[in-house]
Amino acid sequence: MKWKIHHSAETASTNLDARGGKPGDVFTAGYQSAGRGRLDHKWLSPPGASLLMSVVLDVGGISPERIATLPLAVGFATLEALRRYAPDISLKWPNDILRSGRKLAGILCELCGNHAIAGIGVNVKSWDWPAGIQAAALDGPSTEETRDAILDRLAGVFESWREGGISPFMDRLAACDALKGKQIEVMRIDGDPEPFSGVAEGIAEDGALVVSGEKVYAGEVHIGTVG
Ligand code: BTN
Repeated sequence: MKWKIHHSAETASTNLDARGGKPGDVFTAGYQSAGRGRLDHKWLSPPGASLLMSVVLDVGGISPERIATLPLAVGFATLEALRRYAPDISLKWPNDILRSGRKLAGILCELCGNHAIAGIGVNVKSWDWPAGIQAAALDGPSTEETRDAILDRLAGVFESWREGGISPFMDRLAACDALKGKQIEVMRIDGDPEPFSGVAEGIAEDGALVVSGEKVYAGEVHIGTVG
């Protein structure tokens, strides 16, 4: 995969910029005035503190079942790339990267016709995060180095994912699973929205999180029980 970088000093959201892109295009920005996260959350970052990157991927001809596992594959590629800077990282289903239990990176995958837009935000430098945000940063590599490390890893992971979904990564996914064996609370968005608690048993080959024997395909997870 050959990547083509399009950088702007400031934009609303690189995921919006990427809607006009083609496969292999990578949109980055120094600052986003309307950075978006999963489930209508915001991605906040002062200028230069985060890697803000959206990658356009060709998912034409791939089944919807496999496409549903793409966010996990992108999370896995990001984790593998960042491990050299931060060995203490793990993947919180579906695709948050945690460093010592605090959020280091987040991923927002969106579909746009035959393209998937993989939006990746990484806290490269620490800043004065708003109260209540449990975040961590790399505090080592530059934004450009972080970008290149992720793109390098993503190229290989995306090719294997196109061929075999997340099957080739199952063992390595299990090894970096932040939730496995923990008591968690889940807010489903693929079923009954009433929060429920259970023990995370791991990630299934179809991308679901298995919680006390039940498969969850979309939702938000809190470790422990929310009061
Ligand atoms: C999340 O943790 O909820 C996902 C955060 C994704 C943030 C990235 S930053 C680059 C790209 N552009 C956006 O507006 N969002 C993603």
